[in-house]
Amino acid sequence: MSKVFIVTGASRGLGLAIAQSLVQASHKVFLVARTEKDLQALKTQHPSSVDFMTADLADLKVAPAVIQSALKAFHKIDGIVINHGVLAPITRIFEADAEEWRRAYDINVFSAVALVKEAIPELRKSKGRIVIVSSGAAFGAYAGWGSYGTSKAAVTHFCAHIAVEEPSITSVAISPGKLDTDMQKAIRDDGKSSMSPKVYESFVDEHKNGLLLDPKTPGNVIAKLVDGATSDLNGKYFRWNATELASFQEA
Ligand SMILES: NC(=O)c1ccc[n+]([C@@H]2O[C@H](COP(=O)([O-])OP(=O)(O)OC[C@H]3O[C@@H](n4cnc5c(N)ncnc54)[C@H](OP(=O)(O)O)[C@@H]3O)[C@@H](O)[C@H]2O)c1
Repeated sequence: MSKVFIVTGASRGLGLAIAQSLVQASHKVFLVARTEKDLQALKTQHPSSVDFMTADLADLKVAPAVIQSALKAFHKIDGIVINHGVLAPITRIFEADAEEWRRAYDINVFSAVALVKEAIPELRKSKGRIVIVSSGAAFGAYAGWGSYGTSKAAVTHFCAHIAVEEPSITSVAISPGKLDTDMQKAIRDDGKSSMSPKVYESFVDEHKNGLLLDPKTPGNVIAKLVDGATSDLNGKYFRWNATELASFQEA
């Protein structure tokens, strides 16, 4: 049966891949990001199964409108993928601007709190699912990535807290691997002066050698998880290709 999912950061990259995978599985998808033309493009392709709202999720006041708009479009919510995120600022701590960190946390962390809080009543009704897009940077520290890594650690642990408080909802945090998206381009374009030269060059080389993942690959796994993650996964963090997720990785 057709379900309804919200996907944030769905204008490009991993979020777009997740949304496309959900549409292909005959679900309804409500997209959120700032760039209207990219969201409109998917709605134009699938007018009856896609709707969207343009919003800067750093503005925490938009969260109730996101949930209400999704309900108005499709009448229920079976799951939400908190996928949007930013890497910036890439700076070392000694030259950090704490206001830039605050902006990054508004986007990567506090918007997730605002959206999940608003979605909980609907997800309780549907016994729905939350997927939080995490990162290996939530656990490994890379010079220059303090804002990003700590914000991803916060949102990953947030997933565990949702699970203990909302056992009727299944919440998982997923690291999608290194993807060939604009975020990796931002590393190559903006990371050189703050990252360690060895780590920076490894990112440049992985791109040059075609080793970055097509976002469709983890996107399909995340789409299957927001549809069907089982309660034994509740509150846990996994890499997209973890053996525990084998049944969600089948083509
Ligand atoms: N790429 C990687 O290698 C990698 C690795 C590990 C984890 N991740 C995680 O995967 C997720 C997706 O990353 P990606 O690589 O697909 O990045 P991306 O290509 O830069 O896409 C980011 C998405 O987030 C949206 N977004 C950014 N700021 C926003 C804001 N203030 N309000 C609303 N939407 C906003 C963007 O849309 P608009 O610009 O249209 O608003 C876009 O749709 C992120 O959470 C990222 O941390 C990525």
